[in-house]
Amino acid sequence: MSRLDSFIRRLTAQKTLLEDVAERVKSVEGPVLELGLGNGRTYDHIREILDDREIFVFDRDLACHPSCIPDGDHMIFGEIRDTLAFCGPRIGEPAAFIHCDLGSGDPTTDLATSSWLSPLVDQHTKPGGYVLSGLALDLGNFDELPKPEGIRPGRYHLYKKHG
Ligand SMILES: C[S@@+](CC[C@H](N)C(=O)[O-])C[C@H]1O[C@@H](n2cnc3c(N)ncnc32)[C@H](O)[C@@H]1O
Repeated sequence: MSRLDSFIRRLTAQKTLLEDVAERVKSVEGPVLELGLGNGRTYDHIREILDDREIFVFDRDLACHPSCIPDGDHMIFGEIRDTLAFCGPRIGEPAAFIHCDLGSGDPTTDLATSSWLSPLVDQHTKPGGYVLSGLALDLGNFDELPKPEGIRPGRYHLYKKHG
């Protein structure tokens, strides 16, 4: 498969899954955490489909489209390993939904990321809340949910925390 095809499939899967979670998370109160602002594409989509939610966005850099810059209260700069660990007072309550888009493309880096990220994601997700991640996470308190039709196995991981 060409890199172009792979890119298109990745973005299509992200859109499908984000819209699936937006429906599911209607019954769970709480903020949304976007881990990895990047270009701002998924943040922009999340704020459109979950327009009643407070969304906190994490990244070490600001490299997004100018129309997608979060306001100062909701952009959390720095290494996510540090900022996610200590964001509790700022976000106020555990998240209803965490979207993790931190894949590097390098399998060893991704395994290391998954290892420090998993307990932090668990800590900051509300019971009954959802996590969508490009990296497989080790989440003992969650069930991995089946994905909507058309998403290739292994491409994304959708989890729901035990209620
Ligand atoms: C794949 S991009 C996110 C793409 C974005 N969701 C979009 O739709 O445009 C990953 C982003 O995560 C950030 N990132 C990756 N690892 C990080 C870490 N450990 N701490 C902070 N930011 C990180 C990178 O700076 C990059 O902007």
